[in-house]
Amino acid sequence: MGVRLTGVTRRYPGLVALDAVDLTIDDGEAVAVTGPSGSGKSTVLHLIGGMDRPDEGTVEVDGEELAPRRLDAHRRRIGFVFQRFHLLPALTVLDNVLAPVLPRRVDFDRRARAMELLEAVGLAARADALPSELSGGQQQRVAISRALVNRPGLLLADEPTGNLDSATGREIIDLLLSLRERYGMTLLVTTHDPEVAVSCDRIVRLRDGRVVADEQLTPATDVFDRLGGLRP
Ligand SMILES: Nc1ncnc2c1ncn2[C@@H]1O[C@H](COP(=O)(O)OP(=O)(O)O)[C@@H](O)[C@H]1O
Ligand SMILES: [Mg+2]
Repeated sequence: MGVRLTGVTRRYPGLVALDAVDLTIDDGEAVAVTGPSGSGKSTVLHLIGGMDRPDEGTVEVDGEELAPRRLDAHRRRIGFVFQRFHLLPALTVLDNVLAPVLPRRVDFDRRARAMELLEAVGLAARADALPSELSGGQQQRVAISRALVNRPGLLLADEPTGNLDSATGREIIDLLLSLRERYGMTLLVTTHDPEVAVSCDRIVRLRDGRVVADEQLTPATDVFDRLGGLRP
């Protein structure tokens, strides 16, 4: 799923969080959004994820402008990963992965999908554990599985390594990149960590709500070739 922001401005009382931002992300790209604290990184993700609305400008995802009345349906098509995992402490690992599809009936296919995702992040053996029994890196892996349960075409990750040591953070970004290829998704990740940023295809740098640099690291044709085989 591609993304296009056109002239996007988001204001809060006394400040401009995003100032007429134009940004196009191609289907299948892995893009890092970097910049100092308060530069607007999370705001960009929230707007694309339909959790916030621009004051001016348009946000298009998969070729369609986000319509206020259809934001719920939009959010179900997108995966979201947060810095602080946000797992439900009373639910098992497997039930946390299934949480986005509750309270609808959890049929055999959904349970199989959740187990496949836990397998993909290396945690199938911990399906019955509680989050408190897992390390931070393992909890983030569960959160990543949960983000993929609805088969999103776009995965948004807001500082997914921000609460982890650098070796674990490295594992998490490598996992996100490999899942992006395996499931043919677009990946958008905000980060403070230069090592995380350089492992993406492209780095977009924000400052005071504006795009101040946009650096392509992987040629766009390579991104297309790598993902081409996964397209239906
Ligand atoms: N709900 C809010 N109310 C008021 N100001 C906000 C709110 N959310 C974000 N901001 C402000 O908008 C700016 C950009 O925030 P954010 O996108 O969270 O930056 P980043 O993720 O890069 O740290 C900051 O100055 C922040 O304080
Ligand atoms: Mg932020």
